Amino acid sequence: MDAVTGTRYFLARCASDRCLHRHGERRAERRSQLPEFGVWKGEPTNFWAGILKHPQTRLIGIDSFEGLPETWNSYNDVGEFSTGGRLPDIDDSRVEFVVEYFEDSLPGFSLPDAELQPILNLDGDLYSSTSYVLTHLEDRISIGTVIYFDEFGDRLHELRAFEEFIDMTGMNFRLVAYTGDLAHVAFERTG
Ligand SMILES: C[S@@+](CC[C@H](N)C(=O)[O-])C[C@H]1O[C@@H](n2cnc3c(N)ncnc32)[C@H](O)[C@@H]1O
Repeated sequence: MDAVTGTRYFLARCASDRCLHRHGERRAERRSQLPEFGVWKGEPTNFWAGILKHPQTRLIGIDSFEGLPETWNSYNDVGEFSTGGRLPDIDDSRVEFVVEYFEDSLPGFSLPDAELQPILNLDGDLYSSTSYVLTHLEDRISIGTVIYFDEFGDRLHELRAFEEFIDMTGMNFRLVAYTGDLAHVAFERTG
């Protein structure tokens, strides 16, 4: 990791998304909740579970497990990343999965720990999926909330959804960590 440190802020340029997630290590011993939108095979879920060590931390993976509900790009059609309904096998009782489309789960969904600021992990790839999640969780994104995006580099999808969300809400964020290709980025709300 190549880091530029200031007196207050820390901006990390990461070689991989794993390094990016390590930025979450400052929360390692704190009780946290991490809703993860877009799970697929659960590799990041497993990784996060290893980083966030508090026994009462909750990791909630939300995914249809039926793959992308729309075509993303010429390489990733509807149904890409389907596991055929199979859930990741993660041996950690703090991890739970909600098997639903975001659009079906979110209207009645509340995070388990109302008082805890969530760490949001967004990996739905699509504009529509990302926009839906951000809009529905707007009131849970407070100063200090960190949002991790996977596949942020696609201007037409996650990046567009986030840009529109900022325009709509007037919230301010600072970039805290990123991979060189901007596929994986983390932002923290500052205002
Ligand atoms: C790229 S995959 C996740 C990759 C995974 N996090 C990783 O890096 O190994 C995107 C996931 O988002 C899910 N997804 C996208 N839009 C969704 C939606 N609206 N509702 C539920 N799941 C959705 C797909 O089923 C798919 O598993």
